[in-house]
Amino acid sequence: MSKQILCLPGDGIGPEIITEALKVLDVIKQKFNLDIEISEGLVGGASLDAHGVPLTDEVLAVARKSDGILFGAVGGPKWDDQPMMNRPERGLLKLRSEMGLFANLRPAMLFPQLAEASSLKHELVAGLDILIVRELTGGIYFGEPRGVRTLENGEREGYNSYVYRESEIKRIAKVAFEAAQKRGGQLTSVDKSNVLEVTALWRELVTEMGAKDYSDVELSHMYVDNAAMQLVRAPKQFDVLVTGNMFGDILSDCAAMLTGSIGMLPSASLNEANQGMYEPVHGSAPDIAGEGKANPLAQILSLAMLLRYSLAEIEAADAIEKAVSDVLDQGLRTGDIASEGCTLVNTSDMGDAVVRSLQA
Ligand code: IPM
Ligand code: MG
Repeated sequence: MSKQILCLPGDGIGPEIITEALKVLDVIKQKFNLDIEISEGLVGGASLDAHGVPLTDEVLAVARKSDGILFGAVGGPKWDDQPMMNRPERGLLKLRSEMGLFANLRPAMLFPQLAEASSLKHELVAGLDILIVRELTGGIYFGEPRGVRTLENGEREGYNSYVYRESEIKRIAKVAFEAAQKRGGQLTSVDKSNVLEVTALWRELVTEMGAKDYSDVELSHMYVDNAAMQLVRAPKQFDVLVTGNMFGDILSDCAAMLTGSIGMLPSASLNEANQGMYEPVHGSAPDIAGEGKANPLAQILSLAMLLRYSLAEIEAADAIEKAVSDVLDQGLRTGDIASEGCTLVNTSDMGDAVVRSLQA
């Protein structure tokens, strides 16, 4: 039976970089003789414009049946006036929560060719390879109650709730411990347990699991403020980091920049049935949309993750990652990773170069 991939390009640079990923997928299908059917749907602002909502039930239904979802990016100034629950971002958040995609894997790996593009000194980032495991369907992003209320004195007050139940903490911790077992055997759990009860519970449970089931993993705990500092001070001390939804959002942008550009980083969001959605860590970058400046490599590497995790096509995934490394070796760079002596290329040239390397 053929495998179904749903593409959701979204907004801003999303469509441009998905186009490049689809060029790559086309070649991969031929090269590895893969039986894959691709469908496309609207999400985010694109869906708002066409249907008045950031995600339709129809698209969600197709997503549920897909073997893998390749997601671009959502959002842009055009939709900034939408009410919170109808913003483009809601389309993404709804997909995550409706499909139970609780485990967000965000690797931050430095391609040696890009050491110069990092804002940190070469020796601090050379060989960097860390994995952030971010909880994606709970925490303050989804906690109830939430809203804006008017107090008795007429002043408005905004409020959100930071909640995690034991089962949510344990299932994400399990993913992180198991990832650590397969990697460097080290796990850092990030919290704010000196202030927030919810994360004190988080620390308690992770500690318990570490002692009971994962004595082979070297577990440590870090407050989130310190973790942010350590990420830019000495990032190579980390192997796997696990944290809640909001801290993970923030720390993963920070980790991304260590690798030279957020334009290089893919991510996977998985549920308990191992269905997955794959997207670049970066956003829709409306400021450069349509100009051919976007770096398609994070999207192309997201496709590699999809092939690896959801379709178990390891060789195909390896081939894409190698092709990306090849084009960097050739000195090709989009603006975000440009450095002296390299060749500046546009979005579609970069995609074509990956395709050529795969065909070679
Ligand atoms: C991310 C993004 C999203 C998030 C936005 C677009 C809702 O920043 O995937 O990191 O906050 O999770
Ligand atoms: Mg983010």
